[in-house]
Amino acid sequence: MMMNASHYQLHRLNPTQSSSSLLHKPFILSHGRSISSPAYLPSRTTLNFHGKKKCFCIRASATDVRGVETSKENAASVKAVVRAAAAGLLSDLGITKPLDVYADLVGKTLLLELVSAEVDSGTGLEKGTIKGYAHKVRHEKEEVVYESEFIVPAGFGEIGAILVENEHHKEMFINNIVLDGLHNGPIHINCSSWVHSKFDNPKKRIFFTNKSYLPDETPSGLTKLREMELENLRGNGKGERKTSDRIYDYDTYNDLGDPDDSEDLARPIIGGKDHPYPRRCRTGRPSSKKDPLSEKRTSSVYVPRDEAFEEVKQMTFSTKTLKSVLHALLPQVEIMLLDPHLGFPYFTAIDSLFQEGVPLPKSKNFFQSIIPRLVKTIAEREGDILLFETPAMIDRDKFAWFRDEEFSRQALAGLNPYSLQLVTEWPLKSELDPEIYGPPESLITAELIEKEIKGVMTIDEALKQKKLFILDYHDLLLPYVNKVREIEGTTLYGSRTLFFLTMEGTLRPLAIELTRPPVGDKPQWKQVFTPGWDATSCWLWRLAKTHVCAHDSGYHQLVVHWLRTHCCTEPYIIAANRQLSAMHPIYRLLHPHLRYTMEINALARESLINAGGIIESCFSPGKYAIELSSAAYDQLWRFDMEALPADLIRRGMAVEDPTAEHGLKLTIEDYPFANDGLVLWDAIKQWVRDYVNHYYPDPSLVESDKELQGWWTEVRTKGHADKKDEPWWPVMKTPEDLIHVLTTIIWVTAGHHAAVNFGQYVYAGYFPNRPTIARTNMPTEDPSDEEFKNFLHKPEIALLKCFPSQIQATKIMAVLDVLSSHSPDEEYLGDQMEPSWTENPIIKAAFERFNGRLKELEGIIDGRNTNLNLKNRTGAGVVPYELLKPFSKPGVTGMGVPNSISI
Ligand SMILES: [Fe+2]
Repeated sequence: MMMNASHYQLHRLNPTQSSSSLLHKPFILSHGRSISSPAYLPSRTTLNFHGKKKCFCIRASATDVRGVETSKENAASVKAVVRAAAAGLLSDLGITKPLDVYADLVGKTLLLELVSAEVDSGTGLEKGTIKGYAHKVRHEKEEVVYESEFIVPAGFGEIGAILVENEHHKEMFINNIVLDGLHNGPIHINCSSWVHSKFDNPKKRIFFTNKSYLPDETPSGLTKLREMELENLRGNGKGERKTSDRIYDYDTYNDLGDPDDSEDLARPIIGGKDHPYPRRCRTGRPSSKKDPLSEKRTSSVYVPRDEAFEEVKQMTFSTKTLKSVLHALLPQVEIMLLDPHLGFPYFTAIDSLFQEGVPLPKSKNFFQSIIPRLVKTIAEREGDILLFETPAMIDRDKFAWFRDEEFSRQALAGLNPYSLQLVTEWPLKSELDPEIYGPPESLITAELIEKEIKGVMTIDEALKQKKLFILDYHDLLLPYVNKVREIEGTTLYGSRTLFFLTMEGTLRPLAIELTRPPVGDKPQWKQVFTPGWDATSCWLWRLAKTHVCAHDSGYHQLVVHWLRTHCCTEPYIIAANRQLSAMHPIYRLLHPHLRYTMEINALARESLINAGGIIESCFSPGKYAIELSSAAYDQLWRFDMEALPADLIRRGMAVEDPTAEHGLKLTIEDYPFANDGLVLWDAIKQWVRDYVNHYYPDPSLVESDKELQGWWTEVRTKGHADKKDEPWWPVMKTPEDLIHVLTTIIWVTAGHHAAVNFGQYVYAGYFPNRPTIARTNMPTEDPSDEEFKNFLHKPEIALLKCFPSQIQATKIMAVLDVLSSHSPDEEYLGDQMEPSWTENPIIKAAFERFNGRLKELEGIIDGRNTNLNLKNRTGAGVVPYELLKPFSKPGVTGMGVPNSISI
């Protein structure tokens, strides 16, 4: 159907009107379609469009420029097809409510407004929108389809955005909108967003088309909308956030404690001068009664609406499973196991977790239906059984956990490959105040090392040849030792573990030093343990290793995993949503890497890192766990060191070498995490470089990009406010600066996170390999005669008492199983193209090259894992190093690099 200009009228903005007053009903024609509208722009500010640059340059390929309606062409009859998630998928959605069924029946469901990308050439003002109601036309399996028809007059210009008003009484999840019938082909608008009911919030939603523009290149008709949408997302920083809000703002971690519930659950504010930390998303909940600085805890934690995907995507399958485990399963485990301090009486009792399991209270097989992987039903028993799968490591070699070479190998290819450092200074010495912590000199002497390496070389030669490495948890942990020891059921030491790089390229542990600072009238205590060749030394060595494993396990979870990936990424997400328009090319590049993280982090604050939560109750530092993570942030975290090459250089694990592959020479050639990681790093960097160079062909565009500069400034000064004055923050002046910053962020959310997350069950599912807590002191530290006698009589019992209790072990195993699991529709790095990328042939081709490189990396990793010369990743009973293999099947596979931190 064709219409000419006289059939519709266009309203322009009256700059003095506010947005809500403009949202009156459109004129509806008898056929149910409306064709005129008031203009949509809000704002009380007087807009002066005159003198504004009227022509803008679209630096995009020909296929990018579509839907341009020029005055030379006739009006076009355009059909809008809206796809929304179906009610069956979205339990309790408004479209199942009687009022909304009525709205669907009479066709008043969604009010759409087409927005021209151009301003009126005569007046310089925004053109009016074209409105129309979308009607429900069919209900497919997973989607409800709505359609609307519009007449787009000649001269309306390219369509740059669509406004959506949801006439239902409850929110809807809109997947996408396609406008068909335009002279230059269809326009795709990817929404993937919750649209609130107009009865809850009169503001219309703004969706831009899939074309990306730098701020200065924004089509003139969209400039104001672009700014308005960002203002909406920033909010006003006041009040408590409602579930339906989409506001991104900052706050400190002042919601981990629960002082109103109990004094024992009071915790300091994390974030700020005393305890520096990244910021989290502001929820605006009221203050707690007992501590006005703490936020009151509530059963559900606000995340901006589009960060909460669980109703729509299976993607959050793992988040949902984790919630079920935390909220339903673990309380039942506590009921069944009763005594929180009871350890395992025999090693066979640990094995029984994988064979007989833990019976759960009668629940009509409730758990079996929600956590089938973990909970089984046994025919002859009523109720469920919590039954763990045998972790891959133990399945391959039941005794690997006991051996030294596996202990060392895991520092290079295990769950935490981020802690090992080259020893560059000798003798080892603490930097802590000797007045408080006692003599700073280590007892690991040159003579001791030379004896352990049996005269192969002197200590000087070993240092010169870069043969000595250390896991150094001395200065970070020592200040917490006395505090932690006041908590029942745990203990702590500062520790140093020394390794020697053998001729075979593998590591051999030489010595462990455990230290306790002075306490009361007791002086500092420290002792060095070595592998030993007599029974007592062997068992002491085994116990010392248990303490080091607990230190490494806590550092891995609190610093390498939680802090450096989950927690540090949240500010990038908040800043991106507040400062980068959804049509900004860098927002579109980053978005897949920032999805789902805020929701999993909110769950972590609710049940994992909170006072009395899983981390506090199952890890050595107890209630000081997050304080410790704050200390690590304060002392160690630097954005510039989060890049993989910089991290390796900082730890002495690599040196720059322009002649070497990736420009780095590794200190330990067979370092599986670094070898695979560097290929991945380079692939990400090339993809980012192709992308950035396309959108910033002129280097000065980076500095003049106001949104980009706003984002980077906010990341530094608000999201990481406690580090805002650090000199090491990268500047953001050239495309190369931008490429490096973006590669670092994508590496952290994809490569770094995958390397330290998806092997958790493989390596820590059998907890003797990586206990989260060591509960008893060494039998040689101030022992009573009785204790030492007991140790000599049955050292195995001493080890079992030191290990986590039954409740601790069972809880952690259940949580690690879920954390290590990929959802059925996991989104892997370089796998699926974003809708906006497919429309640009240059970006599409670059992404396809990226995908190809990742598939090559799979082959490279498979090849490396069959090379028996690479002893740190392959050998008898060794779990091959696959954590950085890009793709995976669902479940616990020990491989697969998702785009973002979603579990
Ligand atoms: Fe994670």
